[in-house]
Amino acid sequence: MSEFIKAATRSELSSGDKLLVEVDDQLVILFQVGDDYFCLDDVCTHDGGTLSDGEFEGFAIACPRHGAKFDVRCGKALCMPATQNTGSHEVKVDGDDILVKLADA
Ligand code: FES
Repeated sequence: MSEFIKAATRSELSSGDKLLVEVDDQLVILFQVGDDYFCLDDVCTHDGGTLSDGEFEGFAIACPRHGAKFDVRCGKALCMPATQNTGSHEVKVDGDDILVKLADA
């Protein structure tokens, strides 16, 4: 069973930023929108592109390979060519720490 693990500190991000981090040997991306934080797998479900290299605007991250977009709040695939959601993980803030709980695979 997974638990919350420290992934970063709040000073490493500000609103509109994304940050690639490793949590328990898994690469995931932290996103900040306003005061809220979100976390997705660094994997595009179309063909395995690295979403951390993509453009992040509003609540959407775009895959740099063929342009699929995902909602950073839940991992939902927003447009073609991706049809499957990517993994999303729970995030909480404890003081200055950003903690991530990896969803069970
Ligand atoms: S690998 Fe991401 S859109 Fe094709």
